[in-house]
Amino acid sequence: MKIYKAKDYEELSRKAASIIASQVLMKPDCVLGLATGSTPIGTYKQLIEWYNKGDLDFSSVKSVNLDEYRGLTRDNDQSYYYFMYNNLFKHININMDCTNVPDGTQSDSDKECSRYEDVIKSLGGIDLQLLGLGHNGHIGFNEPDEEFAKTTHCVNLTQSTIEANKRFFASIDEVPKQAYTMGIGTIMKAKKILLVVSGSDKAQILHDVLSGPVTPHVPASVLQLHNDVIVVADEAAMAKF
Ligand code: GLP
Repeated sequence: MKIYKAKDYEELSRKAASIIASQVLMKPDCVLGLATGSTPIGTYKQLIEWYNKGDLDFSSVKSVNLDEYRGLTRDNDQSYYYFMYNNLFKHININMDCTNVPDGTQSDSDKECSRYEDVIKSLGGIDLQLLGLGHNGHIGFNEPDEEFAKTTHCVNLTQSTIEANKRFFASIDEVPKQAYTMGIGTIMKAKKILLVVSGSDKAQILHDVLSGPVTPHVPASVLQLHNDVIVVADEAAMAKF
């Protein structure tokens, strides 16, 4: 595991973007696993800036997103499809037919989750998976549990995640209670993983993730077992090291 300590959020975003940019430069038709949440927004902004300067070409890139709220349509401004479209896809030359986000409107969760696993398999797996970190150690929407989930599945969001995400909704009642997410097994199959973590409120959990025992109670701790993980965290998030 490589750990890069960035001075602040801006430097974190530049470092993370440069790792994604190298992946795209080295393999123009790579499969990028993408993430939502506030942490990767600066990374996406930096990629857009380099694209606008003519330094990056996303025309052959394919993407798969980690997760999506169950029940939200693509045009709902809180859906992860909407997030990805507005924070990245519409600003670059990626082919929208080559972007994938679980379909939150599919009520048959087993069917949608196995379809999504098949999509990832048919693309030949993920070259680089970007991850943010939840305050409870979740990655994607893999919440603390008794065991690591293997494949894409439907999850009941924990109260703490609902609380953390209510800032984006008009009221807590509007926060979906379920989501479709890649499993820990799906994530761990990615060839390379890039975890971005920012802020003092993530310092304790980042310490548990990197230095504590590997346990499904701290889902991201499983990353200790992956052979190609890069962590980019700012000084505030690294405060416990
Ligand atoms: C959500 C997403 C996660 C993300 C997490 C942390 O729950 N499903 O993929 O990592 O939020 O988000 P933030 O970066 O805003 O702290």
